[in-house]
Amino acid sequence: MSDTVRVGMVGCGGIAGAHLNGYEALTQAGYERCGVSALCDVNEENANAMADRVEQSFGSRPAVFATADEMVEAEAADAADICLPHAYHHTAAVACLQGGMHVMVEKPVGITVKATRRMMEAAAAGTARSGGDLVIAGAEQIRRCIGARAIEWAINDRRMYGHPVFFSQEVFSGAPFDRSSYNMAWRALKLLGGGGQILDGGAHFADMIQHVFGPVDEVVCTMRTIDDTIIDLPDVDAQPVDVEDYWTATLRWESGLIGHWAWSNHAWGRNLSTRMYYGTEGSLADRQEWQHPFQFGADLTLCDGTEVPYEEIEQQYLASLSEDEKSRLFPYGITDGIAIECWDFVEAVAEGRDPEIGAEEALQAKSLCFALYESAEANAPVKVADVREGRVSAYQDPIDEYWGI
Ligand SMILES: NC(=O)c1ccc[n+]([C@@H]2O[C@H](COP(=O)([O-])OP(=O)(O)OC[C@H]3O[C@@H](n4cnc5c(N)ncnc54)[C@H](O)[C@@H]3O)[C@@H](O)[C@H]2O)c1
Repeated sequence: MSDTVRVGMVGCGGIAGAHLNGYEALTQAGYERCGVSALCDVNEENANAMADRVEQSFGSRPAVFATADEMVEAEAADAADICLPHAYHHTAAVACLQGGMHVMVEKPVGITVKATRRMMEAAAAGTARSGGDLVIAGAEQIRRCIGARAIEWAINDRRMYGHPVFFSQEVFSGAPFDRSSYNMAWRALKLLGGGGQILDGGAHFADMIQHVFGPVDEVVCTMRTIDDTIIDLPDVDAQPVDVEDYWTATLRWESGLIGHWAWSNHAWGRNLSTRMYYGTEGSLADRQEWQHPFQFGADLTLCDGTEVPYEEIEQQYLASLSEDEKSRLFPYGITDGIAIECWDFVEAVAEGRDPEIGAEEALQAKSLCFALYESAEANAPVKVADVREGRVSAYQDPIDEYWGI
């Protein structure tokens, strides 16, 4: 057990800024166990801008490196918070783990199923520099948000809408991504992103619905790529967008629960936005507007027409928690999922305990995403367990081959 954990942030782009907000919020709330001691980014400007921010917030300037390997070599941090494009998750994580550093990896925790397995193998084979087992934490914030925690409780502990029967999340808009920034360009290519929105925003959906309803058994999916913008990045050869911007999928659980999940941002004219969960005694209308189930709670309507607004559900949920549970689920009274995930990672490292979301759970979430790609590739239903166990991988094989995974 160590008193303070020196965090090295790997990747200083969009989400790293949100993680830094989390470390700052924790420190401001009185948490003294974490400090940001190192930053890595191949883009010097991004790294330096974040170093300025860290210096202002924490009072000392972090060491700045271009790559994770250099940070490992310099022993400049105990734990790495990896916020890189998906293609680089595993190379950075494996380098850190082999150097005895714990890692938290942004979703989807590796570009393919095999990439996640490489990290798990490195963690199992290694020992932390300070001794003990190495932690791999999944940076997945949605299920830690107060709305998501409250609705998971309402569904599973209180059975507020009865037994789950089916749900539908369909989101169609005419809002194509602007691919001119690096941030949106790497997301347009299978070799850098692994896939499109199924694996990006959809990783949150895949995690949360399986957290609430258990592992999905089988999926059937059809998808299309409509955008034909040419993406020209230094990372890979220039090529047109090759990830999905339309999909429709049916998800089946062994319990009989069925889900419909569809999305497009190339749907012109009128938008469609449906996020409804139906049970034997009523329905839950999800309040969130993206692929983040229950982030902002859900409103319950019972069969007899009784309406229970989310605020009432949240009150009942909070009243059901002991003080110990509250300080574990919402440390320092913080209800933001990203700050909670940062706290959980640092605590797991400091206490030598498992994180709330470990590699196995992250793998289960992404296996659902990849089951959709594998189903579209095979034009057939696919079992999520077959994807997780590597028995079905035709869609992922070229990615693994390209990166030598
Ligand atoms: N949890 C969430 O809600 C959420 C939201 C956005 C992104 N993400 C995830 O966060 C990760 C990063 O996404 P982002 O939006 O911050 O991307 P981004 O493009 O904004 O940032 C990536 C950064 O990594 C740097 N980089 C690229 N290759 C590198 C390498 N090999 N070594 C060092 N630095 C390198 C880039 O220069 C850039 O600064 C992805 O896994 C993404 O899915 C999560």
